[in-house]
Amino acid sequence: MGNSETVAAARVGLDEVPFQGIVEAALAGVYVVCDERFRYVNDTFAAMFGYRVDEIEGMHLRDLVTPDSGDDVMEKYHQRITGEMPSIRYTTDCRHKDGRTVKLEIHGARVLFRGQPALSGMALDITDRIERERQLRRSREQLRELARDINTSREDQRARFARDVHDVLGGMLSSIKMDVARILRRAAAPELSDIRTIATELLTLTQETIDAARRIADESRPLALDSLGLFAAIEEMLKKFGLRSGIAVSFHLEGTTPPLANDCAVQCYRIVQEALTNVARHADARHVSLSVFARADGFELSLDDDGSGVSVDAKAHAGIGLISMTERAREIDGELELTAGHAGGTLISLRVPLPGSGRAL
Ligand SMILES: Nc1ncnc2c1ncn2[C@@H]1O[C@H](COP(=O)(O)OP(=O)(O)OP(=O)(O)O)[C@@H](O)[C@H]1O
Ligand SMILES: [Mg+2]
Repeated sequence: MGNSETVAAARVGLDEVPFQGIVEAALAGVYVVCDERFRYVNDTFAAMFGYRVDEIEGMHLRDLVTPDSGDDVMEKYHQRITGEMPSIRYTTDCRHKDGRTVKLEIHGARVLFRGQPALSGMALDITDRIERERQLRRSREQLRELARDINTSREDQRARFARDVHDVLGGMLSSIKMDVARILRRAAAPELSDIRTIATELLTLTQETIDAARRIADESRPLALDSLGLFAAIEEMLKKFGLRSGIAVSFHLEGTTPPLANDCAVQCYRIVQEALTNVARHADARHVSLSVFARADGFELSLDDDGSGVSVDAKAHAGIGLISMTERAREIDGELELTAGHAGGTLISLRVPLPGSGRAL
């Protein structure tokens, strides 16, 4: 007991605490409401609504909340004033001076003000937090959609693959089989010219079979990547894109990288493919330039178009394309950035670190 008395004696007396200064400078909004009107607010509280302190003092409670929240706020006010619920904490929609809605978290309690029952409390602006939570929910939804889409397209691709192998390769191989059977049947005859003819047919057929196999394989993996390497394959894709779309293209490559892992090359190839598809679909561009700066520890690839540019709104509501590009970049520890292009359009930059470098460029 003696101990606690010593501690209490050492404490600063309440009359010594500079409450007014603390309240005035508080990061939370502080308010006193009496007779349903604001009698005192600090600067932070007034700023949450876009008013000056002297504009708010005297205003009615309902003046600062949205019409939909008015009844609820008044009910809670009276519950506290009458002592039915002396202290309360809740979230409500308020009305900013410029008309927008701000979400506040209110902690309020019954007090006496000039001898009358009043409410005093604190308010925190949680509009940004709610908006971030909403965006997080939305991006999770988008990722789920993306995952669904990827699964669906993978299934489609497998089905197409199976059909092609069955119908195309199966048909051709059985033709070859029949031809070989004919060769065998006719091999016994004295005239050998027939054999030469059949052999020629067989050769043509074999070639067709090889072409078909290549086409089918190319659907699951771009062959140019194997034969040319990533950067040359991208250059070739860009040239073909220019011919098809009528958009002028330019390509610039500086430096070299060590051989790229298969997955890295495929992801980058697909990212450029999607970025070019977006240029053709959305940009209305006249020129697209693709530059690659390569080093031993990574490379940076940028695609710059002179089209209409991507609006903030479009970025916030990215389709599967942008999400898929971002996810592909993430899979190879890269970073994808979408900014304003040098000629007013869109600039897509992809930075990819290479193993051993230990960091993004
Ligand atoms: N190069 C660009 N120029 C102008 N706008 C672009 C460009 N790239 C993307 N956009 C904008 O960004 C949005 C999102 O692109 P994203 O690729 O994610 O979706 P999408 O192309 O509309 O549909 P998909 O999911 O089929 O790709 C586009 O709808 C478009 O408004
Ligand atoms: Mg797209």
